[in-house]
Amino acid sequence: MATIIAPSILSADFAHLADEIKKVTDAGAEYIHIDVMDGTFVPNITLGSPVVKCLRKFSDAVFDVHLMTEHPETQIKSFADAGADIITFHAEAARHAHRVIQQIHECGCKAGVAINPGTSLSMVEELIEDVEMVLIMTVNPGYGGQKFIESMLGKIHMLYHMIEEMETECDIEVDGGINAETSVLVREAGANVLVAGSAIYGAEDVAAAIKAIRGTEISHHH
Ligand code: DX5
Ligand code: ZN
Repeated sequence: MATIIAPSILSADFAHLADEIKKVTDAGAEYIHIDVMDGTFVPNITLGSPVVKCLRKFSDAVFDVHLMTEHPETQIKSFADAGADIITFHAEAARHAHRVIQQIHECGCKAGVAINPGTSLSMVEELIEDVEMVLIMTVNPGYGGQKFIESMLGKIHMLYHMIEEMETECDIEVDGGINAETSVLVREAGANVLVAGSAIYGAEDVAAAIKAIRGTEISHHH
């Protein structure tokens, strides 16, 4: 499966977001990963749907919205209306996760469900057939530039096999500490959507960083 690169604008210059998005899409990135933090689910506050709405006018890229918020059900419609293409919420924050997925689909978006490093795959197992994407956090959410948690590789691999056994299609996104080195590991484990913030926006040559993270295609042996 071809790898999709999703630069996280969390590491971009917030004073020039439209330019920062153009910079990475010109360099070949398919998605723009938008980290929404509410100051409760995670300590920081980043941006909300009005910002997404403004950015939508400047880009045709796939907007991959990562909600790190409590009560995700209250946010779906405004982000969908603002122009999100994919909306991912945290399983830990949703009492009725399946209903949130239905809501996302009703708004015409693709649905993703995310789990923190400390959360078991069993939390999303019943949802796999109904989402387009599962996001395995490879750092604890809240900040860019943290170190990749290696023990998440087993979880990614288990999810890959789970999806295969269900004979369904579902993207595996990873987020946190992804760079040219860890990219190889997560792609081997089965991830196909790679979020990277500091490794892309912190690079001198953004196109080279994206190319390095994308790597060469990996064939999976079953
Ligand atoms: C972390 C965010 C990530 C973050 C990743 O809470 O969800 O998307 O921007 O940043 P890096 O790639 O620097 O770990
Ligand atoms: Zn994220």
